Amino acid sequence: MDVAVVGVGYVGLVTGAGLAKIGHRIVCIDVDKGKIDNLNKGLIPIFEPGLDELVRAGLGEGSLTFSTDLNEAVEASDIIFICVGTPSDENGAADLSFVKEVAKGIAKAIDRYKIIANKSTVPVGTTRLVERLIEENMPHPHEFDVISNPEFLREGSAIEDFLNPDRIVIGTNSQRAIGLMTELYGPIRAPLVITDPASAEMIKYASNAFLATKVSFINAISNICDTVGADVKEVALGMGYDRRIGFEFLKAGPGWGGSCFGKDCRALIRIAEENGYDFELLKGVIEVNEAQRQLIVSKAGKLLGGLRGKRIGALGLSFKPNTDDVRDSPAISVLRKLRSEGANIKAYDPAAMKNAGDVLGDIEYVSDAYQVAEGSDILILLTEWDEFKWVDFQKIKSLLRKPVILDARNCLDHSALRKMGFTYEGVGR
Ligand SMILES: NC(=O)c1ccc[n+]([C@@H]2O[C@H](COP(=O)([O-])OP(=O)(O)OC[C@H]3O[C@@H](n4cnc5c(N)ncnc54)[C@H](O)[C@@H]3O)[C@@H](O)[C@H]2O)c1
Repeated sequence: MDVAVVGVGYVGLVTGAGLAKIGHRIVCIDVDKGKIDNLNKGLIPIFEPGLDELVRAGLGEGSLTFSTDLNEAVEASDIIFICVGTPSDENGAADLSFVKEVAKGIAKAIDRYKIIANKSTVPVGTTRLVERLIEENMPHPHEFDVISNPEFLREGSAIEDFLNPDRIVIGTNSQRAIGLMTELYGPIRAPLVITDPASAEMIKYASNAFLATKVSFINAISNICDTVGADVKEVALGMGYDRRIGFEFLKAGPGWGGSCFGKDCRALIRIAEENGYDFELLKGVIEVNEAQRQLIVSKAGKLLGGLRGKRIGALGLSFKPNTDDVRDSPAISVLRKLRSEGANIKAYDPAAMKNAGDVLGDIEYVSDAYQVAEGSDILILLTEWDEFKWVDFQKIKSLLRKPVILDARNCLDHSALRKMGFTYEGVGR
């Protein structure tokens, strides 16, 4: 099928490359001309495992193209995906200005029946809003369907998630759209949840809010573990075997982050408020998360006997491993707090140093874990990149001024490190 993908960010680029891989002809559209020019040369703007190869394969076969011409793309396509950002506005609600702008642009070029499928995370009612904007801005009447098709991919494993998703959600009341979307996703083996647009839109917010709740829950438990002498990793293991609970998202640490959880939780709280419900539970989830970031700073302060003038060596800057994304990264927020309390910071991340530099500015960036350790008063592990688990900790010990490790991700072997003579502090252990 011929498909246009509008907005070439994490979601749009993976969607475009993934759909090309399963046999469709895709044109990806963005307003950022520099990004499109680079993509046409095979230069990928984000770090995402396997994405380079997939994009280059699509470009080579001619099944994946990049352009800034929305009109031409809409005319050529049967299905148009909206994948633009929906950041928080000043009240915490989702800012729909990019979605609205794209909807109006699509309307102008509709020349026959099309499906407009929204992958951006948007409040309930947006499918109807986009429908109305298209109706109002279409120069000549044509049939079309706007549907909700929320995306659940995770950065760091986005391609695998796109090609092997747990489910595909399609929110529409149109049989014609259901038929075409089923054909589009045909090669992907996954349960199809076909529902009304409002439910589809809510599924996305409810899923992210639930995952954030799970993480905040185990973080709250970890705070109790810290004082009662239990190990939260053991607790999570014992809980996870219960199939009603499961192992995923039960990792205590510096709190959840990334571009979606915070903004989606805030947007859901606003949606609830606008509909007369005070979502206190979700407000608590956010509070626990903020406290958890501060907890890491307090732990560092305690271990060092104050932070002013101390040299902090930080491992990890991205909000999770295998991505260069630092949007709302707990690592960045912890480092900002440490710096504001007078600590000097040296950091290393395998992929996110450039992005971190843009938001964090002037800390010292070095090129491996050993350089981080050299002369530091403490080593703080903030993002659980695999390579940090395999460094030579004897060497790290010889480079640190004091053998102190704060493992904010609970991913190191605490008994081995203590045997080596480290002072080890984790989260809830
Ligand atoms: N990042 C994730 O892991 C993830 C996962 C699931 C859902 N989502 C949702 O998907 C949406 C997109 O997220 P993202 O992380 O890919 O965003 P992003 O910021 O990485 O990318 C958005 C892209 O849209 C482009 N854009 C903005 N206005 C445009 C316009 N008028 N025409 C064409 N392009 C335009 C921007 O230039 C940018 O390249 C959001 O609603 C987000 O909540 C994100």
